[in-house]
Amino acid sequence: MGHRHAVSIRNTAETFACDDAETLLRGMELLGRRGIPVGCRGGGCGVCKVRIDSGEVRTEKMSRQHVSAEEQASGVVLACRAYPCSDVQLSAVDKMARCIERSHARSFFDGLRPPAPSPDSPT
Ligand code: FES
Repeated sequence: MGHRHAVSIRNTAETFACDDAETLLRGMELLGRRGIPVGCRGGGCGVCKVRIDSGEVRTEKMSRQHVSAEEQASGVVLACRAYPCSDVQLSAVDKMARCIERSHARSFFDGLRPPAPSPDSPT
């Protein structure tokens, strides 16, 4: 096991620890919450786009079809091709953002819902 770094997702204010030998996508999956869109895990489908807002990542080759040179210059990477080299703050973009924000809102409202009455409680 290598070094673990703290990775924060701005969209949902969540933080997870990610080993520098694991991809950011794998770390997000290990958060154990629904809503992380998992596609090919190999840089081929583009569903896992994130923008690195601060910190350093090491990336493997990414398809220009999914990350343009301009996007890459602005910090956009495919989470399945990026490994943290320091603590990282990232924002999910495109499909990834829609999926995790929707699922985050749902679990937030689930938490606000009153508990269901138990079947044998007096009415
Ligand atoms: S999961 Fe397909 S590009 Fe990352």
